[in-house]
Amino acid sequence: MKLQTSLIHGGGENVLGAVSPPVFLTSTFKDAKIHGYSYSRCKNPTREALEKALALAEGGKYGFAFSSGLAAEDALFSIFPRIIAGKHIYGGTRRLLNNFVKKGAYVVYADTSDLTAIEKEAKFAPSLIFAETPANPLMQISDISALALIAKKHNCALAIDNTFLTPVLQRPLSLGADIVVHSATKYLCGHHDATAGCVVTDDGEIAKNLTLAITTKGNGLSPFDSFLVKRGLETLFLRMKAVCENAMRVFEYLKTKSLVKRIFYAGDPESKGFEVMGKQAAGYGGVISFEMEEGIDFIKFLSSLKLIAFAESLGGNATLITHPFSQTHASLSAKEKADGGIGKNLFRLSVGTEDYGDIIDDLEGALKMC
Ligand SMILES: Cc1ncc(COP(=O)(O)O)c(C=O)c1O
Repeated sequence: MKLQTSLIHGGGENVLGAVSPPVFLTSTFKDAKIHGYSYSRCKNPTREALEKALALAEGGKYGFAFSSGLAAEDALFSIFPRIIAGKHIYGGTRRLLNNFVKKGAYVVYADTSDLTAIEKEAKFAPSLIFAETPANPLMQISDISALALIAKKHNCALAIDNTFLTPVLQRPLSLGADIVVHSATKYLCGHHDATAGCVVTDDGEIAKNLTLAITTKGNGLSPFDSFLVKRGLETLFLRMKAVCENAMRVFEYLKTKSLVKRIFYAGDPESKGFEVMGKQAAGYGGVISFEMEEGIDFIKFLSSLKLIAFAESLGGNATLITHPFSQTHASLSAKEKADGGIGKNLFRLSVGTEDYGDIIDDLEGALKMC
């Protein structure tokens, strides 16, 4: 079955032949011995339908749906005591990893787009290499197959945060990764109406640990949010296609603007990771970051946008603009921000599925006000 089809049909059979998975709003079940469901914290049919669909989408055996992307990462990082994490990752993930460090875990940050740097760190017996590609917000690209080879050589697992591209554009397990993670709040859900996360793996031992995490910590996704993400998956293929087309148009437009100093976009043929993208991804996604010229009145720019919301997230139908310095990466220290290239003039656009002309008109109107 092709991905476009399995995203729609991938949850398995529902009771009474329901074509859409029923939302099982129940905390508990009787007759557990007959059907295997006893208590929704541990297992719920709606969450299970989503988990099956997620596993199929990413090409893995086991899927797990969590209450947020960070809950998914928390469950994953709890399994691995020694982690090499990408230096360029979502700020909240870094804050989470720093918490693990406070509790005694070994975590080093290294540039996962630099294979020599990762080889060097891999000598210190890591149990997990964790990379985001493209990375948030400057779109650095890591070579997944090359990282997988390093991980195999050093007998550790490789996890890829696939939030920005989704299985429609990039399938890390097929490139040699052991684990895929998502903030399903973003493209998988796609409508800015649920907070969710997921992990997919082929590894039975990791799967056992994740099942235990959901059972013991109660961090599994609620039935209703499971339904919303499952429904989002059905249109993921179409949405990613639209988002890729729109983002390319917006990129071409931003290139013509003198107030825009630098653009960070995985589809830029002049970007460092473009060749690797061509090898491992089927499209460039919808995220474009850009740095504005010094002295611009940002407040005026943002308040002049009429369609594009200044709001913290990405991956939905509605185009959003974010200020990483004060929003998604606010928890980073001044040094971490400076090292990561996250300055005050940087903005991140999540291009949605609206008519691209309307998105561009909105940007044009706001830029004229600066
Ligand atoms: C790449 C990436 N990974 C993980 C997360 C965390 O996900 P959530 O906000 O669903 O907890 C985010 C959130 O923005 C993200 O952008």
